Amino acid sequence: MRVRSRRKKGPPVEFGFSEEQLMIQDVARRIAQEKIAPSAEHHDRTGEFPLENIRTLGENGLMGIEVPAEYGGAGMDPVSYVLAMVEVAAADAAHSTIMSVNNSLFCNGILTHGTEEQKQKYVRAIAEGKEIGAFALTEPQSGSDATAMRCRAVKQADGSYVVNGKKSWITSGPVAKYIVLFAMTDPDKGARGITAFIVDTARAGFGRGKTEPKLGIRASATCEIEFADYVVQPDEVLGEEGHGFKIAMGVLDAGRIGIASQAIGIARAAYEATLEYVRERKAFGQPIGAFQMTQAKIADMKCKLDAATLLTLRAAWKKGRGERFSTEAAVAKLTASEAAMWIAHQAVQIHAGMGYSKEMPIERYFRDAKITEIYEGTSEIQRLVIARNETGLR
Ligand code: CAA
Repeated sequence: MRVRSRRKKGPPVEFGFSEEQLMIQDVARRIAQEKIAPSAEHHDRTGEFPLENIRTLGENGLMGIEVPAEYGGAGMDPVSYVLAMVEVAAADAAHSTIMSVNNSLFCNGILTHGTEEQKQKYVRAIAEGKEIGAFALTEPQSGSDATAMRCRAVKQADGSYVVNGKKSWITSGPVAKYIVLFAMTDPDKGARGITAFIVDTARAGFGRGKTEPKLGIRASATCEIEFADYVVQPDEVLGEEGHGFKIAMGVLDAGRIGIASQAIGIARAAYEATLEYVRERKAFGQPIGAFQMTQAKIADMKCKLDAATLLTLRAAWKKGRGERFSTEAAVAKLTASEAAMWIAHQAVQIHAGMGYSKEMPIERYFRDAKITEIYEGTSEIQRLVIARNETGLR
């Protein structure tokens, strides 16, 4: 008896990439290897913001990969974004952090929710890498519990808003020209009382607070920002009043594909360095890669790296088809960030003293990997999102 499936058949699963996708991967790999990798140690040691490299990435379409050409971007798909992010992150995670905020959190948010005028006015400079964008959701007392924000935007009779409050952990905050800001417009309504705005950092009422000295991704500048009677005009509201929380969550869904890609890049760099090392380093008369204990680690590293890569490409592929991809993005980010941390940990262990020394980049991979389990939703939040979506319970 033949069993017939009643489910609609989707397209066949493809493991190949289009010519355009491979082209943008090549461009990213070339810039990553020729410009970013040689200065990665310098940027990590000094924490200097890599403005020149960001400009180069922008000139080559990598700061607005999914942004249509009419707004200054490369007009590519989410899979291309993953491929390019992995290449840049493998050379230096800090560069890929700046790249992911420009691409996913800033450009994607305005392209999805902005008016035509907002797209024309704000997206081009960021997508071309001429200016830097940022995303301000977190506050000193509200991280995972994003609806607990205190930053207030009070509507005036003329339709403008006056903003007061603080935001913290703002990636690219010290250098951003424009910021997508989330503020409470109606505290009685909780999540439905939050509104998104576009902020110009050159205007009166905007200020920068302390910068964060960080464990990893040290060249990606991070600071607090402050608003003191900052005035937002009605045409600077992003989406509708009260829709800010949903905008933030949707933008973060896309952002999580970017962070998963970053994690894959870090993991790949740690894995490839380890493969080379275990073939060369000898102990007890043979390469350490010939010992079964090392081989088991290599096999597990390879499995985790491949699983993370396939799950992240799946999330990007669903996004590209215009389907809901919240669960897939959370699965990808959780798997990839935990894989990156585990792989970097094993890489340090296998390199032993050399893994602990600043003479090799292994300890940098270890420090950089950790942030991927924290920002754009901690691993605990990804588990919560996945389980809520799967069970329908909360
Ligand atoms: N897309 C669209 N809408 C969504 C959504 C999504 N993915 N997820 C939730 N919503 C909607 C819900 O449907 C609900 O709508 P209704 O009011 O119409 O029912 C509304 O949003 C509220 O949802 P919840 O009740 O689920 O909200 P919650 O308070 O329980 O929070 C949460 C859910 C998943 C914990 C969320 O707060 C969250 O993701 N927290 C983590 C925040 C985060 O990732 N912060 C990262 C900061 S940014 C950053 O890190 C940038 C950087 O530095 C690079």
